[in-house]
Amino acid sequence: MDIIVKDVKRAKIAADAVIIFGTEKKPVLFDLSFDEAVKLSADKVVAKKIFAGKKDQHKIIDCYGAESCNMLALCGLGTPDNYSALRKNAGHLVRCLRSKGAEKIAVVLPDMKNAALFAQTLAEGLILGAYTFTKYQTVDVSKKEIKTVSFFAKHAEIAEIKDAITKAEVITRSVMIARDMVNEPGNEFVPADMVAVAKDMAKESKKLSCKVYDVAAMEKMGMGGILAVGKGSINEPKLIVLSYKGRTEDKVDLALVGKGVTFDTGGISLKSDNHMDEMKGDMAGAASVLAAVQAVAALGLKVNVTAVVGAVENMPGGKAYKPGDIIKSYNGKTIEVISADAEGRVTLADTVSFAYRGIKADRIIDVATLTGACVVALGHVCSASYTNNQKFMDLYKKASDAVDEKTWQMPMFEEYRELNKSKVADVMNIGGGRDAGSITAAYFIYEFTDKNPWIHLDIAGVEMVNKTEGFNVYGGTGTPVRTFVALSELLANELNKG
Ligand code: BES
Ligand code: ZN
Ligand code: ZN
Repeated sequence: MDIIVKDVKRAKIAADAVIIFGTEKKPVLFDLSFDEAVKLSADKVVAKKIFAGKKDQHKIIDCYGAESCNMLALCGLGTPDNYSALRKNAGHLVRCLRSKGAEKIAVVLPDMKNAALFAQTLAEGLILGAYTFTKYQTVDVSKKEIKTVSFFAKHAEIAEIKDAITKAEVITRSVMIARDMVNEPGNEFVPADMVAVAKDMAKESKKLSCKVYDVAAMEKMGMGGILAVGKGSINEPKLIVLSYKGRTEDKVDLALVGKGVTFDTGGISLKSDNHMDEMKGDMAGAASVLAAVQAVAALGLKVNVTAVVGAVENMPGGKAYKPGDIIKSYNGKTIEVISADAEGRVTLADTVSFAYRGIKADRIIDVATLTGACVVALGHVCSASYTNNQKFMDLYKKASDAVDEKTWQMPMFEEYRELNKSKVADVMNIGGGRDAGSITAAYFIYEFTDKNPWIHLDIAGVEMVNKTEGFNVYGGTGTPVRTFVALSELLANELNKG
């Protein structure tokens, strides 16, 4: 999909469909007098009360008699500053118009206080909503495609709107790369494939460097967690470190650590076959951190961000790690394995402590499809977030609010920490049985942070959607790539102040 910007005073609309935005106060947000036929159709719909600009109200009508377009797509925002409704509705409408055969779309940008943000959000919704993953389908695949979208803008705003669209293109490209990884089936995406993705990213950008550690290297480093989880599979685990340097200071400002279990069978603590297929998405955290670093590099943000991923497949092979095993993690702490299915935290023990002790990051965020308990608690609406540093969390929340990738901060009362105590090792990998499962998992990871600034995100439940809706398309969502990019921007501003 190409998005181009045109001068509303000079260019003529010539499209299959025109998207028009409205609010409850003003069902048609801009002056359509430059195109009489379009204006007549829009006026009629409003007069007949078919469209009132309500939030999430959509209406596609035939635009008889207009030379400039065949369809009008009316999109309600409720209020003018409702950017999340804009992103969602744009995603919905782009698919409606595509299914009706539209190839060329025009959008007249309304008068907005922040025209650039409006354009960026709209472009994000259009691109993400039009996403498809059809590489494994060979019959009956729709060839319908939106080819161009023209944004009609005021002359004075054209330059900033062009920049905003470029930004949206960079960010959504990364979101879609993350979605692609999540959507790849487990047989086509093993740890070595994740390595290939990271290496390709580094090849594409001079500002990125990628280092990969194999089993022998991890043995030397004492990465007992990743190695233990990987033992049951013939597809060997890998440690991937993808670094971006956006400023001269020789430090890692932010490490993004992603859970990269390319498939989670549960290992010897084998899962039932109830939805086990969804465990192909158990590397969504890893996908999001690699994709986010790529976007941050492409945007050239002035901040140093490194992604760390332990890529591993959790299988019940003959050499698999077992309940009762005691393993030693990268930072020296010992872990008693109670369930081989609580494998994510075992790999994160290594990668989180590596982010501090190995690459000496100033702050880290780990992100993981960690617990079914998180899905029970919060469903498919928001991630669970945990921290040992409220200021850092506040910054994260600011970023997450701005891009509408919701998170809910969970409690870290000391009492929960007690539950992970083991009688035979330093910690055990399940504490408290089924109780407070997402919280005890977070506390487990906390043991490997050396009390450095840390946020943990449990994204189980929001990494995939089982129906296409708004800007999400069945399968991987690419959450929270957009938040990571927004946070990196906020951090860059903070670090380069004064
Ligand atoms: N990958 C799963 C968690 C998960 C569940 C992600 C549902 C996405 C959707 C994780 O490795 C796991 O199996 N967790 C166990 C932990 C338990 C053994 C303490 C769980 O949640 O059942
Ligand atoms: Zn598991
Ligand atoms: Zn898992």
